[in-house]
Amino acid sequence: MHDTEEPQESHNNIPKGWLLFFFGGIIFLIGYIVAFTPAISGWSFYHGFEKEMAAAQRTENKVTVTHYSGDKVAIKEGKEIFATTCAPCHNADASGGIGPSLTAATLKYGSTQKDLYESITKGRPNGMPSFLPQIGAEKSSKVVAFLETLRKK
Ligand code: HEC
Repeated sequence: MHDTEEPQESHNNIPKGWLLFFFGGIIFLIGYIVAFTPAISGWSFYHGFEKEMAAAQRTENKVTVTHYSGDKVAIKEGKEIFATTCAPCHNADASGGIGPSLTAATLKYGSTQKDLYESITKGRPNGMPSFLPQIGAEKSSKVVAFLETLRKK
């Protein structure tokens, strides 16, 4: 005896959109797994990490000052860098403001080329920011040459 009341679901097709979504999801997943499995694609979180560390190391290793003492072009450039980067705190003529005067006969952290370079690139604890990331070793050295011209001998 045939039961005509039985639901005939098996004769209805799944909407195309759902099928697309279903298989699309599977394809995406396989692609994702392949791309991020080290054994298959060679991908590794540490590759990116190591690259970043190496780049940071390169900037950090460049801690020695370039000698620009007396170099007129470098001093002029240093003066311009000072005007834009340092003047807000040290005043345009380095006479001091938020930061101390840099023309004084003695400086708290020393006034040799190396001392000045360290103050600029590494910063000092009471509010002097580290400028190596912002202006780099080259420009820092030029600012040092400029500061040397301000020093009262
Ligand atoms: C946000 C404000 C600020 C900026 C910008 C700034 N400084 Fe300073 N600087 C300070 C302060 C505050 C100190 C004092 C830090 C301390 O006593 O520990 C200081 C200290 C110094 C010192 C050491 C002074 C000493 O007595 O030994 C030097 C050199 C110096 N700054 C140079 C610079 C140069 C060059 C720039 C620009 C590249 C610069 N500063 C930008 C705030 C600033």
